[in-house]
Amino acid sequence: MKMPIIAYGDPVLRKKAVAVEPDEYPNIKQLVEDMFETMYGARGVGLAAPQVGISMRLFVVDATPFDDDEPELANFKKVFLNAQILEETGDEWSFNEGCLSIPDIREDVSRKPVVRISYYDEDWKHHEETYKGMAARIIQHEYDHIEGKLFTDKLSPLRKRLIEKKLNDISRGIVDVDYKMKFPAAKKGR
Ligand code: NI
Repeated sequence: MKMPIIAYGDPVLRKKAVAVEPDEYPNIKQLVEDMFETMYGARGVGLAAPQVGISMRLFVVDATPFDDDEPELANFKKVFLNAQILEETGDEWSFNEGCLSIPDIREDVSRKPVVRISYYDEDWKHHEETYKGMAARIIQHEYDHIEGKLFTDKLSPLRKRLIEKKLNDISRGIVDVDYKMKFPAAKKGR
């Protein structure tokens, strides 16, 4: 089942999400399935639980669309539960990022190229792995979501000022988007 994606401006996107225990959320597999469906429906490569209104340390990624550039991404479809980034290393590189909660805005964001992360999969199996390049970037972007951060936080004061009105419009639902969203400041009927 597709869920509406929460738009910029909603407080749930600003909350540091809490870890989840296995018995606390028995329907986690259904939620994971719904999140993938929601993500594919919006042609995204990553989606975090706060983006569907659930403040939980969970995100899903599928970087298959990038496998032309990086063949090792062909099977990069994963579920990250209770993730903790252990280390980020290397010289920062810049990439033009977007976010399903912030449609129509893309900005260059600098991040370190290598990330070491500890997490559980949807079967509660523990993993500790290292990712680099685009895989690392997608993980870092989604990880920011469960920490209550957005890529727009990383922009220069000038860039932030330049997109301020657009961000305001997004929170009010004044944006062209072809997937279902929930806008925190929308007027009735929008
Ligand atoms: Ni995002």
